[in-house]
Amino acid sequence: MTDMTTTLKGRDFLSLKDFSSEEILYLIDLADELKAKVKKGEPHPLLAGKSLGMIFTKRSTRTRVSFEVGIYQLGGLPLFLTNDDLQLGRGETIADTARVLSRYLNGIMIRTYSHQDVEELAANATIPVINGLTDLLHPTQVVADLMTIRERKGILKGLNLTYVGDGNNVAHSLMYGGAKLGLNVTIACPKGYEPMPEILKEAKQIAKDNDCQILVTDDVKEAAKGADVLYTDVWASMGQEAEAEKRRKVFKDYQINSDLLKLAKKDAIVLHCLPAHRGEEITDEVIDGPQSAVFDEAENRLHAHKAIMAALM
Ligand code: CP
Ligand code: NVA
Repeated sequence: MTDMTTTLKGRDFLSLKDFSSEEILYLIDLADELKAKVKKGEPHPLLAGKSLGMIFTKRSTRTRVSFEVGIYQLGGLPLFLTNDDLQLGRGETIADTARVLSRYLNGIMIRTYSHQDVEELAANATIPVINGLTDLLHPTQVVADLMTIRERKGILKGLNLTYVGDGNNVAHSLMYGGAKLGLNVTIACPKGYEPMPEILKEAKQIAKDNDCQILVTDDVKEAAKGADVLYTDVWASMGQEAEAEKRRKVFKDYQINSDLLKLAKKDAIVLHCLPAHRGEEITDEVIDGPQSAVFDEAENRLHAHKAIMAALM
């Protein structure tokens, strides 16, 4: 068996596409173990003496707090760095920032707009770079999502996950992560808001190798039928605020409400990466209802991020 501790050490975490199914499963197993340790109050200083720089040019509640508390629980130090605090905000290049931070830190987590910027940071850093969300992808989210699904369902392979809404960063990472672990992923979105064609093509290829399917449709009711997991995200992502009004009209039928939930399997669970716009992509009744696993999912960000840091750094 491959020793995952050696295959993962030192790697960047930019996209789930770059990781094997075994590596992603290893991270989920480790996240489960670390969660159990937290619940038992057992110390687990796997990153004692190590530091993580966290660069944010977009807002965050879950990603920031879970990485910050997570590295603290692992015995390390977090540094919260905004674009305004760093010389990056005054024109120092991404490459120079990467080179310098690599001399002080053991890892960098970055949340920003352009995915290319994160690739550039990673290319010039000699320490692991973790993608904490770009306009293109949100891979750390999906590790926590898959962990939550397995926790509730006991399995991953063969499950039907239907994502309702915008073909965005979260949808892209769900397609990669789902395809890697054998889930059938259906993206139900309005015409013109589909996932990126290149990502769809790659995810379909990965799915083929793992005996599952990736589908895109605008028929939300058909997509909800037989789902084990119904997932949604905001209609307008960070950076799309100017389109919010227009999107409210375009997406109005792409809502997880009680009627849609009735079409899914009886024991289906509901996920949302959060923050939620209650009354838009999801109703109060559903997010606060018995089938919602949304707040476990949010908690699992902590455990998943700790697993990612412990494995890479
Ligand atoms: N789901 C998620 O990434 O939440 P934050 O934007 O609060 O980090
Ligand atoms: N798609 C959303 C996810 C937030 C966690 C955004 O990019 O704003």
